[in-house]
Amino acid sequence: MPPPAPRPVRIAPSLLSADFARLAEEVAAIERAGADWLHLDIMDGHFVPNITFGPPLLRSLRKHTRLPFDVHLMIAPAEPYLKDFADAGADHMLVHPESGPHLHRALHTIAALGKTPGVVLNPATPVESVAWVMDLVEVVLVMGVDPGFGGQAFLTGQLGKIARLRQMIDATGRAIALSVDGGVNPATAPRIVEAGADVLVAGSAVFGAPDYARAIATLRGGAA
Ligand code: DX5
Ligand code: ZN
Repeated sequence: MPPPAPRPVRIAPSLLSADFARLAEEVAAIERAGADWLHLDIMDGHFVPNITFGPPLLRSLRKHTRLPFDVHLMIAPAEPYLKDFADAGADHMLVHPESGPHLHRALHTIAALGKTPGVVLNPATPVESVAWVMDLVEVVLVMGVDPGFGGQAFLTGQLGKIARLRQMIDATGRAIALSVDGGVNPATAPRIVEAGADVLVAGSAVFGAPDYARAIATLRGGAA
């Protein structure tokens, strides 16, 4: 029997590492460079120890790109803001179980808004946190670092969690994306993909590189 076809790897550059004075240009550049999704990190200075941006910025950028907006909500509570982010142009809306109060309700609300629901697992969060809502989920995002900042080192202990989630997702028979965020670079990406990820979020490894197309191709595992 031939070996299984390699899983296509999608790349989601994280805007957190872009030049904030030139955001529209930066987004156009990563789109031209072959990005699949645009990852947007929403931080409230409460759920995570950093503050970024909110719906007005999504609304402004929405006019400048066709890339799906992969919105990572590091805000607590998230539920009161879901409609604002949906209206501003979010496509995927990813919530942490810890942001509370009700993960199932938040996912249901995202789906009812016509958006793609996802769950994010922090390094210490067990896979069981997503097990009982898998029927509502279309993206599972595994953090490779504690959330809040770009440029941190990948926690290799998360590779086992990625492998376990790959089994859980395959068991559903559904095309749930398994994404990894934090510490993704040319050195860690092959191990993360080998463990079962099919989406790589990367901030510094893309926006910190001199050639975005080359950086994206390298992470994807193709020729630069
Ligand atoms: C961290 C964010 C990440 C961050 C990743 O809390 O969720 O999306 O931008 O940055 P890198 O790729 O530099 O580790
Ligand atoms: Zn993120």
